[in-house]
Amino acid sequence: YLSKTMRGAAVAALLATLTAAPAVATEFKVAVGDGAGGTQEALGKTFAAALAEKSGGKHSARLFLNGQLGDEQDTVGAAATGTLDFSILAINNITPFSPEVGSLTLPYVILSLEDAEKVTQGPIGQRLVDKTIENAGVRIIGWAYSGFRVLTNSSQPVSTVADLQGLVIRVPKNEIMIETYKSWGISPTPMAWSETFAALQQKVVHGQDNPYMTVNAMKFYEVQKYITDLRHIFSIEPLIVSEQLFQSLSPEEQQQVLDAGHEATLASAEFLRNEEARIREELVARGMEITEPADGEKEFMDRAIAGVWPKFYDSVGGKDEVNAVMAELGRPAV
Ligand code: MLT
Repeated sequence: YLSKTMRGAAVAALLATLTAAPAVATEFKVAVGDGAGGTQEALGKTFAAALAEKSGGKHSARLFLNGQLGDEQDTVGAAATGTLDFSILAINNITPFSPEVGSLTLPYVILSLEDAEKVTQGPIGQRLVDKTIENAGVRIIGWAYSGFRVLTNSSQPVSTVADLQGLVIRVPKNEIMIETYKSWGISPTPMAWSETFAALQQKVVHGQDNPYMTVNAMKFYEVQKYITDLRHIFSIEPLIVSEQLFQSLSPEEQQQVLDAGHEATLASAEFLRNEEARIREELVARGMEITEPADGEKEFMDRAIAGVWPKFYDSVGGKDEVNAVMAELGRPAV
């Protein structure tokens, strides 16, 4: 017979083994701001598949589309406090918590997908990752590339700054974007992403800007008629993980998360290259009308650069920070 103490010790040892090696796999929750069919969902799906494969099925990730787990800006706080695992959201919805990422959303800084890939995957991207952990308690582990934010509205074709006057345009609650429209002479309406469709539908606002991918994924073609092919902001949509969660993982698991994020990033660029032109056509087929900005967009560009950049040098970490981005993109310093 085992003594009572020895039996107790054996039970304790057994319990310790059971708790140290949980047999259950973890299913992480991933908040996704947009609906199905866009770059956010594509990034999330690739990430989930890569994570399951790299962790040998121990970890999986489940996507909750259409802001089911909260408005994009709110998911940053939820992830920081550990009540949410992952979120995929537009970079402009991280800027309020980590102003340095604003260097990538200054109007007309990023002029192509290749520019976006270069700044996010190089040393500048890594610096922004570190800053965002420090400022916001979340770690960027992947980047979706969604293309330029085109302007849509329900009222009239817009090709000049003059055409824009009188329109009420929704923007995210993001100072850089608010100032961009002010540089074009109108005062936009800051509004949460989750409220935008209803506001367009009820004509509380006439228009908004977002990439073709997003306009389609959100079915904005049901409530918007005109598109202006602006390219003032190239939309980058990071995949973030709660830093608390990340730190609770083993080094091996952390690497699996990072590798899955990287794989999803590379796939996202391919997705945009393959799908954007088709989606643009689809929107036209659904009755939307596309207008090119007059004069190669010069007026929009000149006014935004002169009117917006100098106001944000301090908040994005100084003019040197902007010039570091310009240097990485092979463009002249400002
Ligand atoms: C926004 O306008 O708030 C964002 O671009 C929404 C998004 O596509 O995630």
